[in-house]
Amino acid sequence: MKKKILITCAILLVLIIAARLYRQIAKAQLLVKPYLQLGSDGLKVLWHTTDWDETWSLEITGEHPFKSSVVYPEMRRVKVPTIAAHRVYCADLPRLTAGERIGYRLLKGQSSVFNASTLAPKSTREPYRFVVFGDCGAGTSSQLAVAYQTYLAKPDFVFITGDIVYSSGRISQYRQQFFPIYNADQASPTVGAPLLRSTLFVAAPGNHDILERDLGRYPDGLAYFLYWAQPLNGPLETVGSPNSPTLEGAKKNWTPFLEAAGKNYPRMANFSFDYGNAHWIVLDSNPYVNWTDPSLRAWISKDLTSTKSATWRFVGFHHPGFSSAKVHFNDQWMRVLSDVFEQGAVDIVFAGHVHNYQRSFPLRFRTNPGTEKLISDLGRVDGTWTLDRSFDGKAKTKPEGVIYLVTGAGGAGLYNPEQQSVPSSWQGFTARYYAEKHSLTQVDVNDRTLSVRQVSEDGNEVDRFTLTK
Ligand SMILES: [Fe+2]
Repeated sequence: MKKKILITCAILLVLIIAARLYRQIAKAQLLVKPYLQLGSDGLKVLWHTTDWDETWSLEITGEHPFKSSVVYPEMRRVKVPTIAAHRVYCADLPRLTAGERIGYRLLKGQSSVFNASTLAPKSTREPYRFVVFGDCGAGTSSQLAVAYQTYLAKPDFVFITGDIVYSSGRISQYRQQFFPIYNADQASPTVGAPLLRSTLFVAAPGNHDILERDLGRYPDGLAYFLYWAQPLNGPLETVGSPNSPTLEGAKKNWTPFLEAAGKNYPRMANFSFDYGNAHWIVLDSNPYVNWTDPSLRAWISKDLTSTKSATWRFVGFHHPGFSSAKVHFNDQWMRVLSDVFEQGAVDIVFAGHVHNYQRSFPLRFRTNPGTEKLISDLGRVDGTWTLDRSFDGKAKTKPEGVIYLVTGAGGAGLYNPEQQSVPSSWQGFTARYYAEKHSLTQVDVNDRTLSVRQVSEDGNEVDRFTLTK
């Protein structure tokens, strides 16, 4: 009898130890390493974990010891069909001094599991650099090479002009073609680079991110609203708002998505932010949005005029208003906003969608009456443009009009390289066209001087121009 009790106790002890070991192994694991986001009011660090309770915290170290602190994150649970439930943690970096070097350490309980450092966003007086590219998360060798060139450029932030991951903006695609490449542990043209952990990323949503919104077909779709933390100051305030990416497909999958997305959906489709001495507006250019809608146009106008102190004004969205490439030639409906951008003194509009690089002459555009894009009409918008052909970005650096850049060569297959050497195939507004290789746009801002370089995936400069105020 005594022996039986001893054996039973021993078995129980083994089971308890095994259960504890299992919990040690199986409990909260890091699924996605920390990445930097803008959030609504400053820099945030996000990371993803398995769906286990754990005390996560972020230990922050500033340049001054008294600024060290521990931040406990907010958490959203993502429990959508086809994907194991997981958690998205989001921690604010507190009390940032512009341009300050900040270190952070991610703690699971008391254990340090990850550390990195970054620079706090620059002040209005400091010079800074940003990189722009789009159409990137395709899992190609060129995506890796562009990521590596971006890393070499050491930008203060990266702006993605949409089509962040192919081909349907799904959680599964972020895990394969976004996080591992832009947050790789090593920097290499064949691997990617450790960018996201130390460099702020901001993005506009493209058609491959949020146009496909049939949650029956892709229950893990619309991951843009789950994984990005961008300002919630745009015009779409409620679910079902006109001009928003309304949900489609199996209704049973809507609630899990809405619960996981929280306030991000649909408001994060459009927003504005300030960085350094510039003001940015980021727009959803997908075809369900009617940008002739007076209330939307008024939102842009008001936003641009309310930032009088900004030296530079930039706009970013996916579908270019001005492109010469034959692919997607009829997708140029965003030119209906040209007059709003001109009145708001916008300097450069960054777009993607077309997988190459194009620079317009500084231009002003007037839509022909009656040819404005209607919400159900995906056709071209005809009109007349006035070009500043005297601007060369070297001797003459004060443009008359807005410069429109297409920079959609971040990784997905290039479009119409055969047009590069045939300027007669370009529209009159196109000043430069580069489609031979993938490339990125590097912008250096120093007070009232702005220098733009287009850099190929192998590190060669393929265009350069300067703007001054
Ligand atoms: Fe696109």
